[in-house]
Amino acid sequence: VLYRNAAVLARHVAAEVADLIRQRQSEGRQAVLGLPTGSTPIGVYRELIRLHQEEGLDFSNVVTFNLDEYWPMEPDSVHSYHRWMRENFFDHVNVPEENIHIPDGQLSRGKVDRFCAEYEKAIAAAGGIDIQMLGIGRTGHIGFNEPGSSRASRTRLVNLDPVTRRDAASGFGGEENVPLRAVTMGVGTIMDARRVIMMALGEHKAPIVRRSAEDEETAEIPASFLQAHPNATLLLDSAAAAEL
Ligand code: GLP
Repeated sequence: VLYRNAAVLARHVAAEVADLIRQRQSEGRQAVLGLPTGSTPIGVYRELIRLHQEEGLDFSNVVTFNLDEYWPMEPDSVHSYHRWMRENFFDHVNVPEENIHIPDGQLSRGKVDRFCAEYEKAIAAAGGIDIQMLGIGRTGHIGFNEPGSSRASRTRLVNLDPVTRRDAASGFGGEENVPLRAVTMGVGTIMDARRVIMMALGEHKAPIVRRSAEDEETAEIPASFLQAHPNATLLLDSAAAAEL
């Protein structure tokens, strides 16, 4: 779906998320959201915060699972996705603390695999993800599922692609400071969500958007696996759609 600009796109996504939250509230049930970081979803978070502050949208029945976190990474670091999520969303809405799940970047190597298995169990125990929001990296990654990630992959420790580390370099004051690894939900974890909303903004995403949407499904472009998802939508501004 093509949008006139990022603001209109963000309003549409936030409205869909708000509808789910209200619907579930009316049924006395929880709404389970899969959440991304990055510049792309920031407008959606802003709009959700506005709906909370100005229209009383209540997040008390919301359970969240973030897609990924750098590893190793302290949660309080300015580079962590933990901190990013607090500053850009959780500090401004009323998602209960105990309902917030973000991959732990500070575990020792020996503890990561068990953590990942438990993350998967927690998603299942919450009833699965209702809406998974996603951005896309220039490598075609979703979460941090870089090229080569299998369709069946689950939450795990991965190596970051050099392109991804280069794209993150400015925020870290140089590529050499970007972690080599990350913990991410797998492609399979993402594919299990009942609804997937993938967003891409800007001309720098146009080539990978085209390949993700128009090439054959391939592990070389993990986002291409979403072609087979029964309820996935790709939302674009005109710059990101330029090569379709
Ligand atoms: C990071 C995140 C992804 C995100 C991507 C694109 O690598 N792990 O989840 O989609 O960046 O970021 P941006 O939205 O800033 O372009």
